[in-house]
Amino acid sequence: MLTDTFNRIHDYLRISLTDKCNLRCTYCNPVDLPKGYFSQANKMSVDEIDTIAGTFVQLGINKIRLTGGEPLVRKDAKEIIRRLSKYPVELVITTNGVFVHEFLETFQNAGIRSVNVSLDTLKRERNALITGRNEFDRVLQNISLLLKNNFQVKINTVIMKGTNEDEVPGFVEWTKDQPIQVRFIEFMPFDGNRWSKEKVFSQDEMLQLISQRFDFIKQKDERHDTTKKYKVPGHKGTFAIISAMSRPFCSGCNRLRLTTDGKMKNCLFSKTEVDILGALRKGSDIVPLIQQCVWDKKEIQGGQFGTTYKNLDSSKISNRSMINIGG
Ligand code: GTP
Ligand code: 5AD
Ligand code: SF4
Repeated sequence: MLTDTFNRIHDYLRISLTDKCNLRCTYCNPVDLPKGYFSQANKMSVDEIDTIAGTFVQLGINKIRLTGGEPLVRKDAKEIIRRLSKYPVELVITTNGVFVHEFLETFQNAGIRSVNVSLDTLKRERNALITGRNEFDRVLQNISLLLKNNFQVKINTVIMKGTNEDEVPGFVEWTKDQPIQVRFIEFMPFDGNRWSKEKVFSQDEMLQLISQRFDFIKQKDERHDTTKKYKVPGHKGTFAIISAMSRPFCSGCNRLRLTTDGKMKNCLFSKTEVDILGALRKGSDIVPLIQQCVWDKKEIQGGQFGTTYKNLDSSKISNRSMINIGG
């Protein structure tokens, strides 16, 4: 079991398959990211992902989420999914939804039952502005396709003040006829994403706005949930809030991360990383490295934030950009 100094058991690993994405959302993919940020040689191969994942499973990991960049742009994504399906874990994926129709069978054969899809607006033109591409219709079609095939679908909606906060009630309306969970995510700071506290639309502000149009009931949350869940009576779906900035949920954290270049992060906001891939290639035992990395985990937000996001100077945070972490 992977336990840290705060007695948190870590059984959930997020593996980034690539730092590339076919969309250009500015909150995630900085405009000034140098081309070829990672060289191909530094990326984990299919075999290396398989070996490292297997080691984590032996250490008690029982849930693996594949992330990116966009995981489905990786050429050998199908092979990776097939290889990881042999482990006794809940295998899940976070995607922008654009290529889901090409992966339906692979997901089904690998036992993936739950897919998180990023979608920040229900307006076609605004979607093009946010993502820099015209894939809105395809994403909506693929969400329908997933639902038709009985996948559990969660929609990730990053809310930014001045960009899309006006759509929060519209997304809640969407849950009326669709058995989806829409998760409103507070905008988080990462390298190069031009975060400012003024752009954070907080949980309190979201709930206040929703309450002007809907009555809703709090649902039960699980210990490790990043979300606080709600339901409008009579709606098929639910909505939830990921209050990463205004109310961090670190006390129940069970998450570890592996970047596409094989570095282990013990927190989304960890300053330090451990080179698991480098050690594996040298033939070293990676188990003590993994254990030590968990042991070094800070209590809250990688120890980088301080008390309230309202006093946060994001230029002092040392981290990667979101596209290089995987969320
Ligand atoms: P579940 O397994 O369904 O709980 O997925 P998830 O919500 O953890 O994963 P997903 O990849 O869909 O991420 C949704 C949002 O939650 C993204 O904005 C992530 O960056 C954020 N998120 C995921 N894990 C963490 C975390 O450990 N800490 C913080 N602060 N945010 C997280
Ligand atoms: N703040 C909050 N969520 C973010 N995501 C990407 N960048 C940010 C950010 N700056 C979300 C995307 C994706 C998930 C992996 O992370 O919406 O669904
Ligand atoms: Fe865990 Fe770090 Fe996320 Fe907090 S910010 S929930 S400690 S990964």
